[in-house]
Amino acid sequence: MVRIAIFASGGGSNAEKIIQYFEHHPTIQIALVISNNKNAGVLGIADRYKVPSQVIHRKDMYESDHLLTLLKNYKIDLLVLAGFLWLIPAYLISAYTNKIINIHPSLLPKYGGKGMYGHHVHEAVKADQSAISGMTVHLVNEKYDEGGIIFQKECKLNQDMNATEIAAEVLKLEHKYFSAVIENYITTHINRLK
Ligand code: GAR
Repeated sequence: MVRIAIFASGGGSNAEKIIQYFEHHPTIQIALVISNNKNAGVLGIADRYKVPSQVIHRKDMYESDHLLTLLKNYKIDLLVLAGFLWLIPAYLISAYTNKIINIHPSLLPKYGGKGMYGHHVHEAVKADQSAISGMTVHLVNEKYDEGGIIFQKECKLNQDMNATEIAAEVLKLEHKYFSAVIENYITTHINRLK
């Protein structure tokens, strides 16, 4: 079994899709959900699907080995960031080299970097009157949104769409493709790395 920990800060609609996709998977299991926000909707989703969950505090991530110990205890092989807003520290990237993947709601390298998350991304796309947007799945390195790109999918935008409508269009793509991209990455990389 390849065991995944999903990291999420918010509502967790992507996390829910991923949990559903792998619920009866023969070789991949969602073993843990981690959030930095005790009020995050993703925690209720984890409960509903009986996936263990943990809330972490800043010091757990940046000033102690609490998080690494937690991931080892749960025998986690791969970290999936699904709307997780904290920067991943260097020690975690070394411990999980090429085993941390993130989803971003734009066509990186456009509209990425610090402060570019959620609605900020879609408002910037709108401000540019961009004709397209999309989603990116990428590996995580020490800089926000700069790791190697695994997958991208674009969608066309109408000039009369507002940022909320752009967000909804991009989220549809995320829900449609993210789980299968994770599965494919595991099949082609993680099984070999284990
Ligand atoms: C998703 O659109 C994801 O791409 C974005 O947060 C949203 C989470 O939605 N991630 C970022 O902006 C990371 N920079 P969800 O909680 O409904 O899955």
